[in-house]
Amino acid sequence: MKLAVLISGRGSNLQSIIDACADPEFPAQIEIVISNKPDAYGLTRAEKAGIKTSIVSHKDYTTREAFEDALQNVLDTFPIDLICLAGFMRVLTEDFVNRWDGRMINIHPSLLPKFKGLNTHERAIDAGEKESGCTIHFVIPDMDEGPIILQRKVSIETGETAQSLAEKVLIAEHEAYPEAIRLLSSRLLKS
Ligand code: GRF
Repeated sequence: MKLAVLISGRGSNLQSIIDACADPEFPAQIEIVISNKPDAYGLTRAEKAGIKTSIVSHKDYTTREAFEDALQNVLDTFPIDLICLAGFMRVLTEDFVNRWDGRMINIHPSLLPKFKGLNTHERAIDAGEKESGCTIHFVIPDMDEGPIILQRKVSIETGETAQSLAEKVLIAEHEAYPEAIRLLSSRLLKS
């Protein structure tokens, strides 16, 4: 499977995919990493791994549609099977999402459908949850919705802080993203 990974920042999930792809048995490879932020550290990670990068800054476009057209133009120059959103912090329009229906996935740091949106760890702790985790799901027009591919759970201990929970969940995320890609590729092969 040929992947496009879309990022906005640190890119630690991107790194987990890069590391997984280093295994010749892993059924996917990254064709392009695209960032909407020119200073995203994930771009450096991709460059270090010899992966092509592209910056499509939303600030260069006056409308969401124009930004997405530019994004699509970059995607069109590669044979992409699957878009992986990995900390990509732009809301995508229904048109763009529908164009990639069934071929775009996202990682979210909570056990969806709980805690959609931001500040997930703080909200999980404040709600008295005993566990949290991460979810990889197909992207549909509604944010943080869409069929779930897999989830990984972590426990919330007494005295847990948003930061300590974020660290635990992030470790789970780094296992989950490559696993979800592996799962999807085996489904593709069977169909
Ligand atoms: C992760 O927690 C991911 O679940 C969320 O944004 C964060 C991105 O982190 N969507 P990174 O850029 O992959 O390090």
